[in-house]
Amino acid sequence: MTAVMGQQPVSRLQALTQRGRAACLLVTLASYRTRTGWICDSGATVAVVGDPESRADDGAAPEPEIIQGGMGVAVSGWRLARAVSKQGQLGVVSGTALDIVLARRLQLGDPTGDLLRAIRCFPDPAVAERVLASHFVPGGKRHGQPFVNPPMFTATPTRSRHELAVVGGFVEVFLAKEGHRGRVGINFLEKIQMPTPATLYGALLAGVDYVLVGAGIPRDIPNLLDSLVQHQPVALALHVTDSAAEERFELRFDPLEILAKAPPTLRRPRFLAIVASATLAVSLARRTPGVFGFVVEGPTAGGHNAPPRGSLTLANGQPVYGPRDEVDLEKIRALGLPFWLAGSYATPERLRLAGAAGIQVGTAFAFCEESGLDPALRARVITEVRNGGVEVFTDPQASPTGFPFKVAQLGGTLSDAAVYDARERRCDLGYLRELYRRADGTLGYRCPAEPVEDYVRKGGRVEDTGGRKCVCNGLVATVGFGQWRNMWPEPALVTAGDDVAGLGRLMPVGRSSYSAADVIAYLLDRPAA
Ligand SMILES: Cc1cc2nc3c(=O)[nH]c(=O)nc-3n(C[C@H](O)[C@H](O)[C@H](O)COP(=O)(O)O)c2cc1C
Repeated sequence: MTAVMGQQPVSRLQALTQRGRAACLLVTLASYRTRTGWICDSGATVAVVGDPESRADDGAAPEPEIIQGGMGVAVSGWRLARAVSKQGQLGVVSGTALDIVLARRLQLGDPTGDLLRAIRCFPDPAVAERVLASHFVPGGKRHGQPFVNPPMFTATPTRSRHELAVVGGFVEVFLAKEGHRGRVGINFLEKIQMPTPATLYGALLAGVDYVLVGAGIPRDIPNLLDSLVQHQPVALALHVTDSAAEERFELRFDPLEILAKAPPTLRRPRFLAIVASATLAVSLARRTPGVFGFVVEGPTAGGHNAPPRGSLTLANGQPVYGPRDEVDLEKIRALGLPFWLAGSYATPERLRLAGAAGIQVGTAFAFCEESGLDPALRARVITEVRNGGVEVFTDPQASPTGFPFKVAQLGGTLSDAAVYDARERRCDLGYLRELYRRADGTLGYRCPAEPVEDYVRKGGRVEDTGGRKCVCNGLVATVGFGQWRNMWPEPALVTAGDDVAGLGRLMPVGRSSYSAADVIAYLLDRPAA
């Protein structure tokens, strides 16, 4: 083993250690390059980073029966994914907004020292140092003091914006993989394009095993993976409203503009496309090489749902799904690729009867102890479920994406009309902004949840703004680090699937909460560990 990088102490980290602020930090950064990847020795644990051999199965083990679905923002954070992976199933971190998640966690002072331990293992200490210098607040910011936001992501991000996303992806996967040899995946939404290459690259450096992408047609992801594992530059074609067919707007990302020196080629993770129709699965399987398999998600699943086919009909304000929305599983089976079923599949009977490689489960994991959801909100949902239930409304308006979005109806959150009305519209995270072509041919950015006059000034239609919720700020608040505005935190926005009604079945007798291991034991019909 030859030490090639990180032999110089990372000054800021070292200084912190010397002050004894974080017990987990050692004085010297020790990341070593092996024939195949990186080994980071933090003293307490040894994690293999970006190492093909770090994948538990080496390609041969059977596929997981249970995929813990990716849940943004940071609901499926590294703690949850790690807990699931340690049980031999597939733990998936959400890849959404990991840059802002890292920036805010660092501003909270990283009280457990986990982030600093992971950052210390980032392959390029100078990058790690810059991210810390910009975002870390020793001891944490004052309660009620607003977080400092990095500039919103654009099609031409600055180097520091890209660095934050790379390190954000790295840290989340590194921590999810730490201390065991189970498999870990990362989830992205096709609707959010601009941070994806950099975040994905960070995840690859940390040895991510699966990449799952939904909410759109993820045709470009396999190519991205092929290039990024070889540290080659990528140009992602952006979806731009009002652009002409021959026009191409792209976001460029070059790993070698981030790392001083490229590590060896990384192992390519498996790519699973999340689909809601057999037509899309067939088209992806035929026309997009590099798709390993599918998650087939139905409209009762938490988070965003695919819109119903055909023209939109509402009943009680919610989209009506009909026979045309039922997925023809025979067509998917005929593709010969593994697939998992999602959307109210979290029972042992449905797992057995699925006739698939397994199931993907979100809601049951979203409210378990290791979930990133704010513990007070989590406990409230569980209590309300036990006391009669929580209503879940499939809101066709809420999400700026235009996709129906499941919203748990909880007083004091954005689902509460009074809370929604009292919130001043603003757009300062911007992940769901739509890119559009301005008359002069340049790119513009707009979000139907931003102030109406701004949206309309940018050519948006006023009728598209009604009922839109700031999903970005709402979801970040749901995991406990919402922005503070005049000493008030942003209201939370809780999403859950229809399956939330069944959470009670997961609760061990005499307890008021349950763990990820309890969910898995229940699903596999075996005694809890
Ligand atoms: C809180 C929450 C957040 C979610 N966020 C995402 C997401 O960011 N990306 C995604 O592809 N799916 C997301 N989902 C869907 C899950 O990954 C999963 O497919 C779905 O929850 C499965 O159905 P179930 O809710 O009935 O278990 C989310 C689900 C929940 C409950």
